[in-house]
Amino acid sequence: MSNPIQTILQPFLFNDSQPRCGLPSAAYTDNEFWKMECHSVFFNNWVFIGFAHELEKAGDVVPISLAGHNLVMMRNERGDIRVFHNACRHRCLQLVMEKTNVGRLLRCPYHAWAYSLDGELKASPHFGGTNRHNVDGFETTHNGLVPVRSHIWHDWIFANISGDAPPFEVYAEPLIQRLENIVDWNRVECIGTLNFGEIEANWKFIMENFIEPYHVQFVHSSTTKQPLSDHYTIIDGKCLGSGVDLDSEVGTHGQLAVSSRYLALYPNFIVGLYLPDQLGVYLNIPTGAQTLQQSRKLYTTEGQRLAEAEIEGLKDLWWHVHKEDHEMVERLQAGRTSLVAQQGGVLSPVWEDSVRAFQDLVAHDVSRHYNHYRH
Ligand code: FES
Ligand SMILES: [Fe+2]
Repeated sequence: MSNPIQTILQPFLFNDSQPRCGLPSAAYTDNEFWKMECHSVFFNNWVFIGFAHELEKAGDVVPISLAGHNLVMMRNERGDIRVFHNACRHRCLQLVMEKTNVGRLLRCPYHAWAYSLDGELKASPHFGGTNRHNVDGFETTHNGLVPVRSHIWHDWIFANISGDAPPFEVYAEPLIQRLENIVDWNRVECIGTLNFGEIEANWKFIMENFIEPYHVQFVHSSTTKQPLSDHYTIIDGKCLGSGVDLDSEVGTHGQLAVSSRYLALYPNFIVGLYLPDQLGVYLNIPTGAQTLQQSRKLYTTEGQRLAEAEIEGLKDLWWHVHKEDHEMVERLQAGRTSLVAQQGGVLSPVWEDSVRAFQDLVAHDVSRHYNHYRH
């Protein structure tokens, strides 16, 4: 019997002709492959799920559905953010549908079971009959919300659903090291949000697009002035991306022509650092084999006070830059219907080695999971 995942990945993994090929079309279109990614890539790694500043007060809750995993982030009374599976322990109803404040208890609307902000089950009214709130053999302490291992790094919330990835500081060390000495974290402040909604492309296209500098001069010719020759790629463990160092900074008003770092933390975290004073973080939420959602936060990094018009100008610039990218990734997706795409195309050994390294991580996670699952 042939192994469908191995069949998809075989040419990618074992054809070492130069230049290297990319992932074949099935990795971007096939529902089985997508399910394997949900159960491996987005289960075993540290996945980016949200922004800490969006949970301002105790009782604030934010749900997220990412790669088939339904989670909820909650801020408790001590000020900590915790992450749980977003399902009531009674009949598994989805507890939180949208961002809100629940006060001191998260109450299920179906039969009024209630949970503390730390996930403990506090009430299961009439479960054992009228005015009997318990039944023999039912342990309240075993029926709290199911917690998910989480880590907050600056403003960014990560979850490791399997619970057995290395500690976040180890997993993300190459990324942390690359930013730690450049950014004064005390001065970083969120100044705006861009919500792009749904993009009709596989999640990997948006990641791959971000970590290769090859397209920038062509796709962003009207919005950026960063010559290709000044770029270099970055491949450092789970941190992949590119950088550009310019001799003179032109600025970020109207056009982008500054020294930058474009860094991704596998699988779905993206941070762009635009020296001397801007940072952008993208939340990429895979929602299906051929769709994802994306939002982006804009941060200042020097504590500078920007006028409303300046903020709007920046948002406008970034909106256009992203739309240029979205058009390309949607056309990459459309190209995957071609027979030609089965071979995966070819990757530049200079400008797209970061893309190949990213794809190697995906292929490794998916095939390891498939083999584990079969035996
Ligand atoms: S499903 Fe939540 S209380 Fe019944
Ligand atoms: Fe781009």
